Amino acid sequence: MKNLGILLSGRGSNFVAIADSIAAGRIPDARIAVVISNRADAPGLEVARARGIQAVAIPSKGRPREEHDRAIAAALLDHQVDLVCLAGYMRLLSAWFVQQFPARILNIHPSLLPSFPGLEAQQQAFAYGVKVTGCTVHLVDEELDHGAIIVQKTVPVLDSDDEHTLGARILEQEHIAYTEAIKMVLEGNFEIAGRRVVRGQRSEVRLQK
Ligand code: GAR
Repeated sequence: MKNLGILLSGRGSNFVAIADSIAAGRIPDARIAVVISNRADAPGLEVARARGIQAVAIPSKGRPREEHDRAIAAALLDHQVDLVCLAGYMRLLSAWFVQQFPARILNIHPSLLPSFPGLEAQQQAFAYGVKVTGCTVHLVDEELDHGAIIVQKTVPVLDSDDEHTLGARILEQEHIAYTEAIKMVLEGNFEIAGRRVVRGQRSEVRLQK
């Protein structure tokens, strides 16, 4: 059984999608050991508690980044987390934190990286006028929205779209993509060659037991 640790800052729909996928058996042999937020008022924390999942607020406001990250890492270790999933965690992680969990942190981003990194990626894509956008699940490295890509899903931009309708269709794909990516990483059925994550090979990167 692998323990997931979820970091979030907001409503937590990706967290809920992951929890639903575990409950439905789409992510086998896994459980969410803890949900942690840097914002005490994140709705995702309440959703977790309502589902009987441990939920912890570790407020980041006014705290130096690495000191805050050390508190988060301690909570993850307390819960024996094998894989850290960023699910709308809107705070940059320190290099120190990333180094604590090598190839064991995933992030979901609402664009086809490397296009539109950073904040409000859906709005950036809409304003740019691209005809296709989507979402990306990637390993987290020390650069923003940059690590090796695990899964991407495309979403067409329709003439009738506005930012909200487009964002909603991207979010639907995020929920599907995150489940696929977590299952694949937990199974270890891939190889990392440079930036390329290739399926069907036994991974060199093993999660700790
Ligand atoms: C999602 O769209 C996620 O991709 C995005 O925040 C939203 C969180 O929604 N993350 C980023 O933009 C990270 N750069 P949720 O709280 O409902 O999962």
